[in-house]
Amino acid sequence: MKIRIYSPSSSLANLGYPWSRHLNDWPDRCFVDVPCGIHRNVVKFIQYEDNIYVLKELRTHVAKKELANLHKLEALGLPVVNSVGLVEKRDEAVEEASNEYTQDSPKIKDMFDRGLLITKFLDGSLPYRVIIERGINYTRLEQMLDSLAQLLVRVHLVGFYWGDCSFSNALFKRDAGLLTAFLVDAETGEFHKKLSKGQREYDLELAHLNIAGDLMDLEAHCGLPNDADPVDLADSLVSKYHYFWGQLTDPIEIGANEQYKIDQFIERINTQGYDIGELEIDTLVRGTRLFVRPVNVEPGFNRKKLQKLTGLLVGENQAKRLLQDIYRYQPYLSGMKKQPVNIGSAARRWLIDIYQTSLDMIAVELRDHLDDAEVFHEILEHRWYISEQQKKDVGTIEATKSYVRLRLSLREIK
Ligand SMILES: Nc1ncnc2c1ncn2[C@@H]1O[C@H](COP(=O)(O)OP(=O)(O)OP(=O)(O)O)[C@@H](O)[C@H]1O
Ligand SMILES: [Mg+2]
Repeated sequence: MKIRIYSPSSSLANLGYPWSRHLNDWPDRCFVDVPCGIHRNVVKFIQYEDNIYVLKELRTHVAKKELANLHKLEALGLPVVNSVGLVEKRDEAVEEASNEYTQDSPKIKDMFDRGLLITKFLDGSLPYRVIIERGINYTRLEQMLDSLAQLLVRVHLVGFYWGDCSFSNALFKRDAGLLTAFLVDAETGEFHKKLSKGQREYDLELAHLNIAGDLMDLEAHCGLPNDADPVDLADSLVSKYHYFWGQLTDPIEIGANEQYKIDQFIERINTQGYDIGELEIDTLVRGTRLFVRPVNVEPGFNRKKLQKLTGLLVGENQAKRLLQDIYRYQPYLSGMKKQPVNIGSAARRWLIDIYQTSLDMIAVELRDHLDDAEVFHEILEHRWYISEQQKKDVGTIEATKSYVRLRLSLREIK
């Protein structure tokens, strides 16, 4: 048996789990119960130290492919579950017997190979069924479709054909009040240098079919907000996809002396959370008009920027929100110090004096399982609300105290 752990921080390999046995034959006490989406393969959850890991039974060659896909998507900075490792050659008796007549035919050997894919449980995430079953409003459902369409655009931009985009194969996590969809099942995916329009459209068609199916299922089970029609909703995913794709890849036409429009164009794409790696500019009509096309658009603009300034790695919308707060803090700090403070120094001070200080004031029981950046986002929302109420700027630390009081009173009411 071989256990490959790719994530160095994980010491799972040292545990006495019955790795060689099929997951269905493991004792129940090995597993923890967590909300989970629909799946055809056997999927189970185990807890080790503070982490939950997800184990999935697959043929080894499929598990290897899925692991490689997840790994590459993660390295490209896309929202995807973290791959941890793979267990293979689990059944040594079968391994030895099969060696004899499969030497010349590795494909037959694959049939004997049962692999186990290990990923890290995506903290703070929920499967779509749980979100919808708990009762959501129509706006939230729209946000889920938005985030799934964005995810499909993002993976297509890096040349990844998903082959099974659906609500079941994604997980949803709060991101500064909105939702971000994470890719969870990459078994069917393939990387290409660049996807053709046909490949993208086909992937989108599969997504449409899957999502209509996912939603019909739920409609029958618990109904949908506003009695929404599953097919209309699936149609709206397609329009959202085309809209986001167009926003990021459609060229603009400008006059030769309107170069400032290129800056505006780049800024618009940055605000949507994307970085432009390369621009292609063609001259038209005797050089009086220019055609500007983004060639290489990469997601994670705000995430990367925040990480560079503070070391924090958070969701894209959270990063945008936190950066806004740093930009707001910079002139305040310059005023306090009576000299200009650059953005790097402001970010370092903000991290300790504002971000960390505020979070340290919020006890675990008041966090509602939200991650740090999401709690801080809530504090910023609260700061805005009480500043409006008091018709003056309330500081972040003051707002945090008020947020704690509010949370405590809500707990008492419950
Ligand atoms: N890393 C993870 N973190 C949290 N939940 C996870 C993770 N991996 C899987 N899950 C949960 O398990 C469910 C099933 O996983 P997955 O889609 O990979 O299984 P599958 O059997 O390959 O699915 P399919 O039937 O689409 O082939 C997901 O919908 C999700 O709820
Ligand atoms: Mg799946």
